[in-house]
Order: sequence, then structure tokens, then C-alpha cells
Amino acid sequence: MSKPQLPIIADLSALPRIPDPVPSPSNEPSLDDLTLQFTQALSDIRSKLPKELQNPKVGIVCGSGLQGLAEILQDRIEVPYNEITGFGESTVRGHQSCLSFGFLGPSRTPVVAQLGRFHAYEGFPLHQVVYPIRIMKLLGCKASIITNAAGGLNEQNKVGTILTILDHISLPSMTSMNPLIGQNRETLGPRFPPMSDAYDFELRKQAFRSARELGFEKGVLKEGVYAWVAGPTYETKAEQRFLRAAGADAVGMSTVPEVIAARHAGMKVLVLSLITNIVVATPYRSAEDAVDAEVNGTTKEGEEEEKEDEVANHQEVLDASAKRADDMRALVEKIIEKSYGGEAK
Ligand code: HPA
Repeated sequence: MSKPQLPIIADLSALPRIPDPVPSPSNEPSLDDLTLQFTQALSDIRSKLPKELQNPKVGIVCGSGLQGLAEILQDRIEVPYNEITGFGESTVRGHQSCLSFGFLGPSRTPVVAQLGRFHAYEGFPLHQVVYPIRIMKLLGCKASIITNAAGGLNEQNKVGTILTILDHISLPSMTSMNPLIGQNRETLGPRFPPMSDAYDFELRKQAFRSARELGFEKGVLKEGVYAWVAGPTYETKAEQRFLRAAGADAVGMSTVPEVIAARHAGMKVLVLSLITNIVVATPYRSAEDAVDAEVNGTTKEGEEEEKEDEVANHQEVLDASAKRADDMRALVEKIIEKSYGGEAK
């Protein structure tokens, strides 16, 4: 039989170009270009807003399935990303792509909500992931309230628990992926910002006061440590055990780059993570034991069948978010009312 003929590719440059999949801060625009981009973006946004919304006090980042947060904004105005210089377009199912401006709560606090965030796993460089946070800062936001859907590593927490994040572990930024790598923007913040105080204590207390006022059952709002993984793969069992042993209560693929950029720029930060799935490692099945049992004829009925391990999936995350979305909305509204409803803090 003759061998099949393979086509000979003479010119490699004729092959379709695949974009660099590794997010690298080194392909960031120069400081001058970035300053121009920021200036243009601010004017793109402000040209679409009435004066009272041009300087929002708080920036809210809406996580997976939590985009409904924007529905409670009064006199809402949406500015699509493709009308703002320097914005990308979020590619994740269940995420929109706009900044939503409006007033929140009885005191009508002006806020901006980011609907559709950029993740490293989509291939976005980190300077792009944190671009909306820097725009929020430049618009005048004093605080950033960041929400996300996360996997629960602590067996004490159930699906539907909301964690007020008090610290993070970021293996990507401890090794190579930090949005501040590259030339420092002195006008935004210092070269070496601390992160040991990243999660604002006053805002965390307001979260717990608000939960009480809203009548949340004890245990719905808790505290914990968030571990950022680059994704898009969910964790292996060994990774789950590793992160838990390192002290993480929740794991997710977002938020930490935004927290770093917000703290660098001097904004206060509150992070609320909704536990949407449980990632407590189940024991391995031993193939060796299974074969020993086969050989010895001691396999118990039903044991030959492959038992499916519970694996995380994106639909489960969206479903769990939808169930708690109203509580998250009410909580964020109450925290902002209590913290920023009166005079600017
Ligand atoms: N792992 C990582 N990210 C996630 C998870 C998870 O289990 N759930 C929601 N986001």
C-alpha cells in the first residue's frame, strides 16, 4: 500500500498566524500611549453621561452570573466597551460588555458597574484585564467592590455561601503574572505597593453589618482567603489539596489582578466571592486495588463500573450564581449606602 502524500508547506509564513496565547505584561503600550488612551477613554465615557454621573464614587465589578447587580441602578446609562478607547470585548458566556452608570440606593450614590470582565485565560494581557479598574479610578471612584463566582475549598462552606475576602494567595503573581510588571505608572501608584492590607477592614465590617440589617441567616456571609488560578482548566485533585493546605477557602480565575491594580491606584477594595461549587478533593480510586480485586475475585457488585467523579462545570457556576443574585445585589447596595451614601469617604 502506498503511503498517503502529505502536502509540502514551502512557506511557513503562509500559515495562519495564531495570536500569542501567553498573557505577557511586556507587550503593554508605552507610558505615553497609555496616558493618551486613558485620556481618550475618559472623554469617550464622559461625553455620554450627564454631569452627575461623570464622577462615580464606587466601581463595582460584576462576576459570573452577577451582572443583574446593574439592574438596580437608577437612571442607568450603558456605555458599550466598543465605544471606549482601549477596551477589549469579554468572550465569556453569561458576560455582557459594557460599563453601566447610575445611582444606587436611597441616597442616590453615583456608581459604575463593569459588566463583563477580562480574564487572563481568554488570552488578555494583564494590563488589559485591569484597564477598567484604572478607568474607574481616573473617573473618581474611591472604592472598588469586586464580585466573583468561586469554587469552595473549605468544607465548612456550602454552595451559596458568600465569602468576604480578607486575603489572597496568587501563585501566578508570586511567579510571573502580575499586572504591575513593566514600567511603573507613578501617576497611578508606587513601584512596590504592599498587599498585606489589600482588603479594607471598614468595608468588610460594613458587609457584616449590612448582612445583619438585611436579615441574612448566620452563615450566609462568611470570611475567607481567595486563591487566584489562571485557568481555564478547573483544578486537579492534587491542586485542590495544595491550595487548601496553603490556607485558601475559595479558588477562582479572576479578581486578584483587579485587586492589585486597585490597591496600586489607592482605591479601597472589598471582594465578595459567591461559592458556586464545592472543590473539596474526593479520594482517588486505586487502579491497583481494583485489579487485585479482579484477580482475587473479590470485586464487589457495582464496583467494576466507572463511578463518575463530580467535576466542576461552568453551567453549575451560573446556576448557583442565579440563586443568590438577589442577595448579592441587596448586600452590595446596602454596603454602598452605608459607606458612601452620605458625604464622600
Ligand atoms: N475553580 C476555579 N474557578 C472557579 C471555580 C472553581 O472551582 N468555580 C468558579 N470559578
